Amino acid sequence: MTVAPPVIEKLREIVGQQRVLTDETSFQQYGVDRTTLWTPSPGVVVLPGSTEEVQAIIQLANAERIAVVPSGGRTGLSGGAVALNGEIVLVLDRMNEVVAFNAIDRSVTVQAGMITQQLQAFAEQQGLFYPVDFASTGSSQIGGNIATNAGGIKVIRYGMTRNWVLGLKVVSGNGDILELNHGLVKNNTGLDFRHLFIGSEGTLGIITEATIGLTRPPKELSVLVLGVVDFPSIIDVLKTYNDGMELTAFEFFTHNGMEKVLAHSEVPAPFESEAPFYALVEFEALSETQLDQAMALFETCVMEGWVLDGVISQSLSQAENLWKLREDMSETLSRWKPYKNDISVNVSRMPEFLAEVESLAAREYPDFELVWYGHIGDGNLHLNILKPDDLPVEQFAGQCSVASKQIAALVGQFNGSISAEHGVGLLKKDYLEYSRSATEVQLMRQVKQVFDPNGIMNPGKIFDAV
Ligand code: MLT
Ligand code: ZN
Repeated sequence: MTVAPPVIEKLREIVGQQRVLTDETSFQQYGVDRTTLWTPSPGVVVLPGSTEEVQAIIQLANAERIAVVPSGGRTGLSGGAVALNGEIVLVLDRMNEVVAFNAIDRSVTVQAGMITQQLQAFAEQQGLFYPVDFASTGSSQIGGNIATNAGGIKVIRYGMTRNWVLGLKVVSGNGDILELNHGLVKNNTGLDFRHLFIGSEGTLGIITEATIGLTRPPKELSVLVLGVVDFPSIIDVLKTYNDGMELTAFEFFTHNGMEKVLAHSEVPAPFESEAPFYALVEFEALSETQLDQAMALFETCVMEGWVLDGVISQSLSQAENLWKLREDMSETLSRWKPYKNDISVNVSRMPEFLAEVESLAAREYPDFELVWYGHIGDGNLHLNILKPDDLPVEQFAGQCSVASKQIAALVGQFNGSISAEHGVGLLKKDYLEYSRSATEVQLMRQVKQVFDPNGIMNPGKIFDAV
């Protein structure tokens, strides 16, 4: 589908000649995220430079009834930023400035296209810290992080993106500019629309600016990697450490995943012996007492028979290398075009859930290699199914979707989430019913109708219109 030449002309009047792209290379670059299942087919790519330009584009899209797909850093893993049907792809890349900083409020207002790592660097320059962190912060944009309520590796201590959004400027689907919450800490004046936009995956409007809270930087972080005997023992180790000290991260990964990371990078193995699972524990070691406590907990875990071996970082570079074993996992596996499960249950139900999902995966995926990792301290598991090189992607996706439905049903039985932190997008909308009731999905449709009466905003993502 193409966008009519008079509409292209109007878009050029709004943003300037050079900022309206109609070539195939731009379509493939801007019309897709990190998923590999879909071939993008947008109608036009447009790069606005201000909230007012975004508003003018949304008004035009409403008048012409053309769908709009917001395009941030395109690091999403659920197809939320994929344009398949001649849409206007609205790219936020040019809107990447710091608008205001307030040291007393400990807040910074940035445009939505700011790269997450730049926000982290800006906070550091001010002696402060933006704690939402994950492997793709070098390309992901803050607007996309908010639209998907991104999680990552520090949620156990700092929570999800939602916790750090003090205010938003948005252009709603019907073209209104809304300034939501003005950076306030306390504001009980009725419904908080800011929270509707967080995690809405571009289905209600476009986030153009965000006011973000900052905090004190952590000090003297120490990283411990433990070799763990089996899945249930990871949860025992988690409970032991959670009860014994305040953690900034608790992650896990499997041996086969780690082997792939080691083969792909210069990072050394954590220790000589092998274990089927590894837990990565991070904490602030402000004094010898915390280090002694971490070692005492390690000894308890060994004595209980949960942990086989372990290493604690002695320097910043060793801590960074230990983190790479977990953080490089996603990038390393991308070569196998994995089918990604991003599921969660309450941490208390993890042992029972893990046993069931593990046997289901072994039964349903006998011919595929599975790599498990995730934010186990948050009850969040990433099960990656690797595509054999000789299997066409459509066939692979078809086979995975059969087992995915069963995994989603199992998640539903545990009152868990079929998408803990990656969002629903296109990939998981068929499974939404296992985490959200039919009434809830219908209410979501009605809320969309309020903010986006013509249904132009990222249609077909999260749920279908009817
Ligand atoms: C991660 O935990 O590494 C990210 O969510 C990305 C992924 O799951 O591949
Ligand atoms: Zn993750």
